[in-house]
Amino acid sequence: MNPQRISLSPPHLTGEEQAYISQAFESNWITSMGANVDGFENEIIKSTECGYAVALNSGTSAIHIALRILGISTGDFVLCPTLTFTATAAPIVYQGAIPVFIDSENETFNMDPYICEETIKKMKAQNKKPKAMLVVHLYGMPAKMAELLHISELYDIPLIEDAAEALGATYEGKACGTFGEMGIYSFNGNKIITTGGGGALITANPIFVQRARYLSNHARELLPHYHHQEVGYNYRLSNVSAGIGRGQLTVLQNRIEARRRNFKIYKQFFDEMEGVHMQAAPNAKFKSNRWLSAILLNPEYYKKTDKYLIMDTLEARNIETRPLWKPLHLQPAYKHYPYEGTQVAEKLFQQGVCMPSGSNMQIRDFERIFEVFETIKKVLLGV
Ligand SMILES: Cc1ncc(COP(=O)(O)O)c(C=O)c1O
Repeated sequence: MNPQRISLSPPHLTGEEQAYISQAFESNWITSMGANVDGFENEIIKSTECGYAVALNSGTSAIHIALRILGISTGDFVLCPTLTFTATAAPIVYQGAIPVFIDSENETFNMDPYICEETIKKMKAQNKKPKAMLVVHLYGMPAKMAELLHISELYDIPLIEDAAEALGATYEGKACGTFGEMGIYSFNGNKIITTGGGGALITANPIFVQRARYLSNHARELLPHYHHQEVGYNYRLSNVSAGIGRGQLTVLQNRIEARRRNFKIYKQFFDEMEGVHMQAAPNAKFKSNRWLSAILLNPEYYKKTDKYLIMDTLEARNIETRPLWKPLHLQPAYKHYPYEGTQVAEKLFQQGVCMPSGSNMQIRDFERIFEVFETIKKVLLGV
């Protein structure tokens, strides 16, 4: 019989969620407003020290709303990292706009500020100035925010942070998501905390928050009858889901500590394995929540196919892993959009594997994983 599955990043409930859900049931607020939605938004504000938060039904819808608020529309250019999940770029395409994919830098895996700036200069010279920068904090690692914010200000291009994976991560002590004009979080089931599907838009701008509430509620005007000047969306989070989020938020710090501990355990092990290294924080300013711990296989030691051998060997023992995101400029759905870079993201994709990183991982889970790696080492390195 196979041992119990070690999943990549499973939900980790506290039991506290039940009380908030029960309140929703008892008060019969089984809809997209209620005390849990208000409470969840206030608690996100407290936790991240952002100005305002709007609870939404996904991180993807939060990105879509942010782009709508900035007036991104047909033919506009939006800078976006190539190494990310499709949900970062899809809302750009929903708007009929054009994602311009920017390569990663090697340290954080995030948008390379140098390539970003060179692209802006080139596009400006062609009269195609980008209308927004969408920056991702991949696997919870802050992007190089000082440089990216400088570029955003210098060229007067608003910055949106896709912090879907980075709730609780900080750069220079400030929460990821709170640097740009708007930030977004995801509470999908695999994230550091979950609502079982949900998201939030955060901002310091009171006009943006009003727009986000309006657009996510069908752009309904405050009139006694149903009146719509604009077309909006049904993107609100339910009061039941928000209850799960409230219970989850009470343990966010604990979940971050657990994931950071996971990273330390992996690092200790992989520091001893030839040709393997891990996603690095350039310095102490970058505090990742270590949502996922990722390893990189140095091509001087490993063939391209070794990544799959490692993943398959672990899968055969019921241990889940994932490759790094496949760069978007290589995806059939996006390959006709512009890309600027030097194939760093491609190399990261070829070399990278995300390891099981749940906050509920036990020492015995690591022992099982490392035992498999002893076999892998013998096969791949002959040691
Ligand atoms: C980088 C990134 N952006 C956006 C999203 C979209 O979030 P959601 O699944 O809540 O729509 C995700 C995760 O799913 C993500 O990892």
